Amino acid sequence: MPGVFAQIGMEYGHRYGGTSFELFARISEKNHAHSTLNPLAAYSKRFTLEEIMGDLMIAYPNTRPMCSANCDGAAAAVVVSGAKLKTLSIEQQRRAVKISASVLTTDPWEESCQILPDVNTLTRNAAALAYEQAGVGPSDLDLVELHDCFATAELVHYDNLMLCEVGGAVDFFNSGATWRDGSMPVNVSGGLESKGHPIAATGIANVWEVATHLRGEAADRQIAGAKVGLAHVIGLGSACGVHILEKAA
Ligand SMILES: CC(C)(COP(=O)(O)OP(=O)(O)OC[C@H]1O[C@@H](n2cnc3c(N)ncnc32)[C@H](O)[C@@H]1OP(=O)(O)O)[C@@H](O)C(=O)NCCC(=O)NCCS
Repeated sequence: MPGVFAQIGMEYGHRYGGTSFELFARISEKNHAHSTLNPLAAYSKRFTLEEIMGDLMIAYPNTRPMCSANCDGAAAAVVVSGAKLKTLSIEQQRRAVKISASVLTTDPWEESCQILPDVNTLTRNAAALAYEQAGVGPSDLDLVELHDCFATAELVHYDNLMLCEVGGAVDFFNSGATWRDGSMPVNVSGGLESKGHPIAATGIANVWEVATHLRGEAADRQIAGAKVGLAHVIGLGSACGVHILEKAA
């Protein structure tokens, strides 16, 4: 499995004229730094770039801390209609988060996907539909939790989720935008590389992270004043879920 993403990551890198191992490692450095503020992360240790690059190589260019951590986990969401919400307590209404878009896409069947699943087209399609459904654009997002099953995948999805110009993911990352104090914080939870990737629970866990910021309950890692966020998940094979959540009025 890591090999598939390593391949996707490197192919993407080639499109940028040879994205380096170090750049992917810096994405992992960011996510592990973010994880130090998340008490629920499987690994909440900060790693230096040297430690990340020098760790066990799982599938080039992803070393062990650049891979999502295999772990157990559970996540749940309670979904109610607007009418039902009005019957709930003031406190429940205050903590409610609006689902402005909920999109699930799959890839059209392609012969080549038997060997290398395409994680790009379905994410791009889901993101476009979600922005349309929610009536918001990428520049309206206060935070993003995306499916960094490997550090290489995170770079791919900056572009697929339209967080940057087409083909601009490397410059976007190098600008510092995706750090917690940047203009578009990505994976402030620590991402799947630190928080862990309990597969079936991962999608709702990403939704929960965004909802927690919109509720103002994210403690030390809170993105101040967060009003709109995007949660993304992929299942190879392939299916993609994108949710845009907004702070309820
Ligand atoms: C990366 C991977 C091979 C590590 O395997 P593992 O059996 O958990 O790890 P190892 O036994 O080799 O090493 C364990 C140590 O490595 C370190 N470690 C492992 N993964 C780490 C991570 N993501 N971040 C930081 N440290 C990590 C920890 O120190 C750990 O020790 P500890 O648990 O005692 O603290 C495994 O998590 C993996 O296969 N991940 C990818 C899963 C995948 O493909 N998911 C589907 C994607 S769609």
